[in-house]
Amino acid sequence: LNYNVNRERRYILEVLFNGLRRLEYRGYDSSGISIDSSSCKIPAVSGSNSNSNVAPPPLVFRKEGKIESLVKSVYQEVAETELNLEEPFAIHAGIAHTRWATHGEPAPRNSHPQSCGAGNDFLVVHNGIITNYEVLKETLVRHGFTFESDTDTEVIPKLAKFVFDKANEEGDQSVTFSQVVLEVMRHLEGAYALIFKSRHYPNELIACKRGSPLLLGVKDLEDEGSIGASFNDAKFLSNNQQPRELFFASDANALVEHTKKVLVIEDGDVIHLKDGGVSIFKFDHAKGRCGGTLARPASVECALSVLEMEVEQINKGKYKHYMQKEIHEQPESLTTTMRGRLIRGGACKSKTVLLGGLKDHLKTIRRSRRIVFVGCGTSYNAALASRPIVEELSGVPVTMEVASDLVDRQGPIYREDTAVFVSQSGETADTLQALDYALENGALCVGITNTVGSALARKTHCGVHINAGCEIGVASTKAYTSQIVVMAMLALAVGGDMISNEARREAIIDGLLDLPSKVKEVLKLDEEMKDLAELLINEQSLLVFGRGYNYATALEGALKVKEVALMHSEGILAGEMKHGPLALVDHNLPIVVIATRDACFSKQQSVIQQLHARKGRLIVMCTKGDSASVSVGGSCRVIEVPHVEDCLQPVLNVIPLQLLAYHLTVLRGHNVDQPRNLAKSVTTQ
Ligand code: G6P
Repeated sequence: LNYNVNRERRYILEVLFNGLRRLEYRGYDSSGISIDSSSCKIPAVSGSNSNSNVAPPPLVFRKEGKIESLVKSVYQEVAETELNLEEPFAIHAGIAHTRWATHGEPAPRNSHPQSCGAGNDFLVVHNGIITNYEVLKETLVRHGFTFESDTDTEVIPKLAKFVFDKANEEGDQSVTFSQVVLEVMRHLEGAYALIFKSRHYPNELIACKRGSPLLLGVKDLEDEGSIGASFNDAKFLSNNQQPRELFFASDANALVEHTKKVLVIEDGDVIHLKDGGVSIFKFDHAKGRCGGTLARPASVECALSVLEMEVEQINKGKYKHYMQKEIHEQPESLTTTMRGRLIRGGACKSKTVLLGGLKDHLKTIRRSRRIVFVGCGTSYNAALASRPIVEELSGVPVTMEVASDLVDRQGPIYREDTAVFVSQSGETADTLQALDYALENGALCVGITNTVGSALARKTHCGVHINAGCEIGVASTKAYTSQIVVMAMLALAVGGDMISNEARREAIIDGLLDLPSKVKEVLKLDEEMKDLAELLINEQSLLVFGRGYNYATALEGALKVKEVALMHSEGILAGEMKHGPLALVDHNLPIVVIATRDACFSKQQSVIQQLHARKGRLIVMCTKGDSASVSVGGSCRVIEVPHVEDCLQPVLNVIPLQLLAYHLTVLRGHNVDQPRNLAKSVTTQ
C-alpha cells in the first residue's frame, strides 16, 4: 500500500511483480494481481467510516504458469486498453499472489485473487487451506452466490460480500472493513494468511492470519537511509500523513529490497492499513470473536524487528541456478553456522560449544527420558544423520518421527521427553502441528530452524538458528549440512558434562573447524559429478546404499535425485540389502555405495563384494586413498572424498550427491529451482 507517495501505475505493477518473483519459489503454478483502475482520492476527513463511496471495480489479472507469463499478459492487456501506465496514484492498494495448487488445477479461474463476482467488491489472496469451505459454500449457494472456481479460497470474498451486504441491509452503513473481516474470520476453519482488498474500502488493505506465515514491512519514505532508527509506536500506528509504503508478504524475501523494518504478524492478528496508519486487532479463535483494538502499543516496539538479510543474498550472483549457488556456498554457510559457537583453546582449557539458545535447558535435556527428533523431508534426513552422535554423547536414547506420522498416530510423547523440531523454513504445517501436539503433552520443545521469527522459532521453548542464509532452491542443500552441524553442536553441548567423552568431543570440534576447507575440497568434484551425470542421464532409476552415519546420506542423496532430476531413486539401508533390494540388482541398474572410513567400513566392503558378485553396476564413494580397496580390481567407478570425524562425514558425503542431482537435472532439461509439483515451504497439510 502506497500512501501519500506519487507513484505511477507502472511502478505499482512492478513492485507487485517483483514481490511475486521473490516469492515464486513458494509456489509457481499460477499467479494473479489486482490493482486499482483509477486513482481514488484520499478522503478529506481522515478516519471517516462511511462506505457509501464505491470505487470503480479494481482490475484483476490471473494466469496459469510462471510469473513471467502473468507479467507478459498484463502488459499486453494494458496496451490493448485505455489504461495509462504513467497515470500517477497518490495512494494505492494492490495485491498479488503466486500459487501452489491444493484445491483445483492450476488455471486462471483457480488463481488468486479470488473475488465475489463481476464487480470485484471483495478480493482475497490466500495461503493455506480452509477446511470447512464445503459447508460455507453450500450456505452461500443457498443465498444466491454462484461459484466459478474449484478453490477453497473463493468462499472468503463471497462471505465478505455477504457480511457487508447484510450489514448495509440492516441499516449499518458505517460497517468498517475490519468489522467485515472479523466477521468472516469467525466462520473460517483451517489455516490461512489472507489479504483483503475491496472497492467499498478503496485505499485500504486488511491482512489476518492463522497458521500460515505473514509479515508486515514498513517503509517510511522520510526514514530512508536510517534503517534501524528507533521505532516509535505512535508513528508506526498512525503515520501523520507522512509518505510511506506498507507491504504484506509471506516471507522476508519479498520485503528486503524495500525495507528492513518488519512486524511478524501473529496468529489471530488482524492488521488494518488505512490512511497510511496501521491498526492491529486481535481475533480470539477459541472464543470466535475479536478482542478489540490491540492494546499493546508498548509491545509494538518490541514486536518490530530489523531484518538482517541483504538483497544480494537472494540473487543468483555468478551462478545459473539457486541450487547451484547454494551447493557452492556451503563453505561459507557452514562457517556462519559455527560462528561464535565453538571455542578453541585460549582461556578455556578444553574446546567447548556455546549455544546461547539452549544453555538454560541443557540440564533438562540431559535428564530427559528420550530425545524425539521430528521433521519432514530433508530436515528429517538431517536429524537422522545426527542421531548416532546425539545418542553417543548424551547417553539419551533418540527416536525419529516424521512429523505427519507422529500426528497421524498420535504417538506417545511424555513430559519427560525432549522433542527437537527441525525445519529449514520453520513454517512446515506438519512439523508445526506435531509441535503443538508435543507442547500439549508437556515435552520440552527445542527448535532448529533457518528462519528467525518463524512460527517454529516462536512456539518452541528454546532452540538454535542454523544461520545458513536464505535458501531459495526448492531442493534443500546448504540448510541440510548446516542442520547436521547444529545438531552435532547440540550433541556436544548436551554431552558437555561427561569427562569420559572429552577427547571425542575435542576431536569433533577440531573436525567442525576443519569442515569448511574440506567442503571446498569436495566441491572440486563438480566436473567429475557432471561426467557421472552424463553417464546416467538416460537411466530410469538409481539406488544409493548407506549405513550408520551415512544411511541418512543415502536417503538424502536419493531424495535430491528424485525431487529435482525427476529420476526414480531410493536410499537403502545397506544392512537390509539381503531382505529385498538385492532382487533389483543386475548389470543395468546403477548403484551408489557409500563406503567411507568409519566403524561400518568393513561391512560396506562386504556389501560391495556381494553387489559385484551379482554384476551390480557400482559407483563407490570412499575416503581419499581407499580407491584400490573398494573398487574390486578397478571394476567400479570411484568418488573419493576427504576424511573427517565420522559424525561429520555425512556433511562431506552428501555434496557429491547434491552435485550429481544438480547436473542430472540440467542435462535432463528439468527446472532445477522449481521442480515439478513441489514447493519450498509446505505450509498446508
Ligand atoms: C519441502 C521442501 C524440502 C524440505 C521439506 C521440509 O518438501 O521441498 O526441501 O526439506 O519441505 O521443509 P522444512 O522447511 O520444514 O525444512
